[in-house]
Amino acid sequence: MNTIEIKPDIYWVGAIDWAVRDFHGYITPNGTTYNNYLILDKDITLVDTVKYDFAEFGLTNIRSLVDPSEIKNIIINHIENDHMSALDRIMELAPNAVIYTSVRGKEGMARFFDTSGWNIKTVKTGDEINTGKYNLMFIETPMIHWPDSMMTYIKEAQLLISQDAFGQHYASTSRFDDEFVKNASLAELEDATVDYYANILMPFGKLIKTKIKQILDMGIPLDMIAPDHGLIWRKNPDKALKMYTDMASGKTNLKVAIIFDTMWHSTEIMTQPIMLGVRDEGVDCKVIKLRATPMSVAIKEFWKSRGCLVGSPTLNNEVFPSVAEFTTHLKGLRPKDRITGAFGSYGWGGGAVKWLYNEFRQMKLADFEPGVQVQYRPSSEDLEKCYDFGRDFAKRVKEYHKEFE
Ligand code: FEO
Repeated sequence: MNTIEIKPDIYWVGAIDWAVRDFHGYITPNGTTYNNYLILDKDITLVDTVKYDFAEFGLTNIRSLVDPSEIKNIIINHIENDHMSALDRIMELAPNAVIYTSVRGKEGMARFFDTSGWNIKTVKTGDEINTGKYNLMFIETPMIHWPDSMMTYIKEAQLLISQDAFGQHYASTSRFDDEFVKNASLAELEDATVDYYANILMPFGKLIKTKIKQILDMGIPLDMIAPDHGLIWRKNPDKALKMYTDMASGKTNLKVAIIFDTMWHSTEIMTQPIMLGVRDEGVDCKVIKLRATPMSVAIKEFWKSRGCLVGSPTLNNEVFPSVAEFTTHLKGLRPKDRITGAFGSYGWGGGAVKWLYNEFRQMKLADFEPGVQVQYRPSSEDLEKCYDFGRDFAKRVKEYHKEFE
């Protein structure tokens, strides 16, 4: 049996996906989990489903506890495929179940399934259902992660089922934060939480801040936060709330990420004196080559740093393709509260550095112009320019960082 009772008569019945490495374009070196929860109360209630590929796996878990035909209520907190795509399979077995979801959830559900015979009730923030000994309250969280998103708070268990929010893409034998910290480390848990936020929720910081405040203002006790991916925050739900509040408020490390790609190593050679210049200003620095690094890791390292220098050679008067891919990802994530600069090498016409600053301007990131460029191969004079550029950038980053302290 692969179920776990997380609160009295409330079970994790999800699936661990050890193998997934590309999650709709987000590279997941550690796999993920599709968490969903079964409440064995008078009215048996399923909260969310699993990704369709794992439907039978999830059903085996449910069957180990109850006949699926006995499910009375199904709550769909979020209609994205990884949370809802097994719903039709559940509905085949429990056709009379009542589905609870948001208005946008109901509209979206009809785009995925033929819902004509389904009993779907829409709910909004503050609405409640009773399952017997438990009262479940819904909290709409639009754009965390999609417009339909909501959370379910189980009052008597003081349990918040938070769908995407507070999750991690991490396959593990651990189901709880404290278990994971014991088996791996707190640093790894934090890193996975930041990775998830950076790659999925970065655009929605303002909404996240407002929503967390709204939840805290409701005065509801939070003993446990159970997301639909990764670890359940059993030991330290306050840590999850604080990490999200901090990230949504622009807090990050006084650090510089140097993210680059290279053709004939000239741009790569430039990274070394730039890194030394940053380091000599007392600022930590990480150098990341794009074609040697999963995109999600590059995005995470960007997010974990107050400053980012992007390096690109010029290819056919354009930026290098892998660098363009990085800035395309970044632009969609609408980053804030970071400072950027650019560097690169060229043969004759140039263009990559100018292109990068144009991107930074479009993203409204505080930038540091004019950057540094070298022709063909960096000379010793060029290397000194690179060192000074790194130092000057680090000075500017330190100044900018003070605004967030
Ligand atoms: Fe885990 Fe927005 O889906």
